[in-house]
Amino acid sequence: MSTGMKYYKDNPWLIGEDVFNIDWLGKVEAAMSLGNGYLGLRSVTEESYIGEQRDTFVSGTFNKVSENEVTELPNIPDLIGMEFRLNGKRLDTTKGLLTDYHRDLNMRTGELTRSFIWEYGGIKVQCNFKRFVSFSQKHLIGQLVEIKNLGQPVEVEFISGINGQVTNSGAQHFTEGDKVLTEGKYMQMMPYTTQSDIFLVLSTTHKIKKEEDIYHESKKRVEMGRRKIYNRYWINLDAGEEVEIEKISSIYTEIDKEIEGKTIAEVKNIALKELKKAEVTGYQKLFEKSAKDWEDNVWSVLPITIKSKNFKDQLAINFARYHLHAIAPAHDQRMNIAAKGLSGEGYKGHTFWDTEIFMLPYFTFTHPDIAKSLVTYRHLGLEGAHKKAEENGFEGAQFPWEAAWPDDGETTPVWGAADIVTGKQTKIWSGFIEQHITSDVAFGIKQYMDVTGDQKFAREKGFEVILDTAKFWASRLEWQEDKKRYEILEVIGPDEYKEHVDNNAYTNYTAYWNINLAIKLYEKLKENEQHIFWNLDKKLKLSQVYEQWIDKVDKIYLPKPTEKGVIPQDDSYLSKKVIDLTKYKQSPQVGTLFHDYNLEQVNEMQVTKQADVLLLLFLFEDLFSKEEKLVNWNYYEPKTVHDSSLSLSTHAILAADLDKLDLSYELFNKAMNIDMGENMLSSDDGIHAASLGGIWQMVVFGYGGVRCLDGKLRIEPHLPEAWSNLTFGIIWRGNPLIIEVNKKQVSVTNNGSSQISFEAFGSKYCVSVGTKKNINI
Ligand code: BGC
Repeated sequence: MSTGMKYYKDNPWLIGEDVFNIDWLGKVEAAMSLGNGYLGLRSVTEESYIGEQRDTFVSGTFNKVSENEVTELPNIPDLIGMEFRLNGKRLDTTKGLLTDYHRDLNMRTGELTRSFIWEYGGIKVQCNFKRFVSFSQKHLIGQLVEIKNLGQPVEVEFISGINGQVTNSGAQHFTEGDKVLTEGKYMQMMPYTTQSDIFLVLSTTHKIKKEEDIYHESKKRVEMGRRKIYNRYWINLDAGEEVEIEKISSIYTEIDKEIEGKTIAEVKNIALKELKKAEVTGYQKLFEKSAKDWEDNVWSVLPITIKSKNFKDQLAINFARYHLHAIAPAHDQRMNIAAKGLSGEGYKGHTFWDTEIFMLPYFTFTHPDIAKSLVTYRHLGLEGAHKKAEENGFEGAQFPWEAAWPDDGETTPVWGAADIVTGKQTKIWSGFIEQHITSDVAFGIKQYMDVTGDQKFAREKGFEVILDTAKFWASRLEWQEDKKRYEILEVIGPDEYKEHVDNNAYTNYTAYWNINLAIKLYEKLKENEQHIFWNLDKKLKLSQVYEQWIDKVDKIYLPKPTEKGVIPQDDSYLSKKVIDLTKYKQSPQVGTLFHDYNLEQVNEMQVTKQADVLLLLFLFEDLFSKEEKLVNWNYYEPKTVHDSSLSLSTHAILAADLDKLDLSYELFNKAMNIDMGENMLSSDDGIHAASLGGIWQMVVFGYGGVRCLDGKLRIEPHLPEAWSNLTFGIIWRGNPLIIEVNKKQVSVTNNGSSQISFEAFGSKYCVSVGTKKNINI
């Protein structure tokens, strides 16, 4: 008997399980979740079990349940649930004898399957379930259930419809909503979110077949209860007989762009019409269309192949790409990717710096259209960023640490986990003082503009964000008369285990970078693009701030390395006490430090939650020498507990850069196992979206050696011992490049329409259209 998640050596597209364990529901629900960026479904079973988290989310439908809670992505009424009774006995696979059990997600096609034989109290049935969230028709969900009677005659009774009794951990975000049954089989429910007042139209229908292509008019009865509507069906199966149930469902919301301005009644009719069409098309054809879209829009676009001794490596990159596309709301610029995607309630559907620093690079380098949508969201967020700056007495754009609807401003909750010493809730300071998000946003936008060369976006949106964020930083700096320099006091850096620190290196350097970038941009625009310059000047009063930028920028304090070369993470870090972290670093769970200490105590120790100084060295690698990187690696890695899923990928890439390839590969393995590994509780609240972006970064930036430095492309691959070949693609300034790496050589093929140039190992290369350049490593 195997335990935990199951992987198949001969198929890098499947993840699954062959043991049903209700203690592990959370992991499977999240790791095998389905989605298309518009909607996401946790992979709960049709019949319900204690411990499940039955979540469906639709991007952007944020709602605030009460005044003192922050807005969150609501768990919308469930369309998936189906309860079965066989000769009056509830289908419950924890009872009786369960054999031949498999549950698999095929990431290539986006189909979830479950099959088993169940024997209980004289009943013996073979059950097969299939499900997909359409990648081609974003409103649509398809389900197929087959029950074959392997025993004595059985009456199958099932109830299935729409269940609005689900909540976000108890918080109900919807009004009761109208419930309607049309033609005896089309069920619809139309609730509103309680505060943001967004209507939803949820529809579902069933098609029952007992013989090939013959619609079976089974005995049925509609039932409506509080927040639910369903049909109850009865079907008799003789020995050997089989029934097939297709359940097709759809979700529309008032904020869907294509139905803008329509009334709830109109949308209800559209949904009904589309549902009828989908019903006629049927599960199989709808599924095939969706699978084709996965193939055409994801898998065949710049495929990645890894020839490794470890089959899980290829699986990991497929897993990462699958989930990144399942959770990216590519259809609407007013939405962004949440820290847990659409696969769990963790972090309330909010967007963090996780997007710009961890996930956006994947899209920027491979799906620039999706990246454009993600960076446009930040431009739309300027209103909220102004609001936040103003509330805090600053100028310009201060981006919220946690973001929801673009103009919401700050949405970080104020109270968090228990403090084991005081027994009270710990205050979450990030929304107040974790300010590096503002330069992270500018960083993501700059990288997008450099890699894609998207001038239109730059002129209409990107430049503005860079200038506006620099305005914030200039107003945020604090002059220290005694030291004759500007400092940034009282912040949290990427390492959230250090609160209220002064001069966090990452924050100061990135603020400096942001202002410097704005200065160069100001000068370039004024010189070369006057029309754009004057427009921006009018909007942002640039001429006034430019003088300030020039005056301040070189007086910003950038924490300098100690004699030994260690860059202080902040003013006080290096003087704090060092403790033995072995126990915590070895623990399969994260956050175990807090079983022994509270945050106040951890604040006084040299313990780092996640890459902080080391992230700075990775992102701005041309500012630091290899020696500096090594010294800081040796200092900080042993003090880092990697309690955030954002930590390991950065470390793996840096380790590869420092020629520590074995160590890097060890970290790569740990990083991929955050969601795919043995720890069956690690993903209960949802998958770790940033770490998925991190998987792609480890492959392409770490081992593929790709960087965009100062607007130039560099490709310096180095493969781990286990890999004999890595092939991947990137799009550089609109030109698709295929990069193939082995231990001796790297080749770059330009499949684009203009010549490209890049640097590798100290030399410059040009690759003209349709040609391939080979370089010995
Ligand atoms: C990390 C943050 C991250 C957040 C959301 C926290 O645990 O420390 O850096 O943005 O999770 O993923």
